[in-house]
Amino acid sequence: MGVERLHHVGLAVRSLDEALKFFSGLLGLEVESTIVVEEQGMRAAWLKLGDVKVELMEPIGEEGPVAKFLAKRGEGIHHIAVNVSDINAISEALREAGIKLVYDKPRVAHDGSLYNFIHPKSAHGVLIELRQEGAAERGFTFLEHTADQYVLAYGPDLRSAFEEAGRALFATMTDLSTVEPKVEVEVEVEGEDVKALLYNWLEALLLKLDIDGLLLSKFKVLEISGPKEGPLKLKGLAWGEPFNPAKHPQYVGVKGITYHLMEVKELPSRVELRFLLDI
Ligand code: CO
Repeated sequence: MGVERLHHVGLAVRSLDEALKFFSGLLGLEVESTIVVEEQGMRAAWLKLGDVKVELMEPIGEEGPVAKFLAKRGEGIHHIAVNVSDINAISEALREAGIKLVYDKPRVAHDGSLYNFIHPKSAHGVLIELRQEGAAERGFTFLEHTADQYVLAYGPDLRSAFEEAGRALFATMTDLSTVEPKVEVEVEVEGEDVKALLYNWLEALLLKLDIDGLLLSKFKVLEISGPKEGPLKLKGLAWGEPFNPAKHPQYVGVKGITYHLMEVKELPSRVELRFLLDI
């Protein structure tokens, strides 16, 4: 147990656009993704530097930790992040030794990693992020995209990743926690490959809203099957209730699903789906 390697260095910047001109434009670091991290009050750009990454962090508003850091210290190195194999075990050992961690429990990062920070007071003035990759079992997150909603949904298998994709679709439009699973609907779709299946699954779910006025918040993919050659078939269930403007906050409307930038990554114990919603 212990830290394994450097994962990334987090830099606080006033303007992502300006910082990217330097780090990407002049130094040539490749931009991997740009994301919004609401709970940290920031936008972040992830750049590749060999095996290590650079996280450029720009504050949104005045309240988040990055805004506070900039006000106090100006631009510069904000934290370093190291990989650990078991974040819970190392957190416990550190706490036993009297080391202070920032959060009581690890949080889920945009890529499904779990992370926490060692307080700089306990770490010789350095804010150290502990990061266990691929530890979050399932979930979804919104990656930044100029005009549309770009989603990453993931899970330990294809079925759970499809369920998370359904949740992400409706979480774009409303607060899922306000949608009670009162009505059950069956969904059956086909697709010539996983991408087509994902497209058709999301479109079928969206039609439940457009045609039947149903908001959905809970999804169960019962089976995904198909012959070696020939279309894949998906059977699933979804639960929700009729849209009620007094009860369900309206975020943005989804006009349609697109194939543009769609990506399916099937890793040994994890499936990642990326897709763009036309809003
Ligand atoms: Co970080």
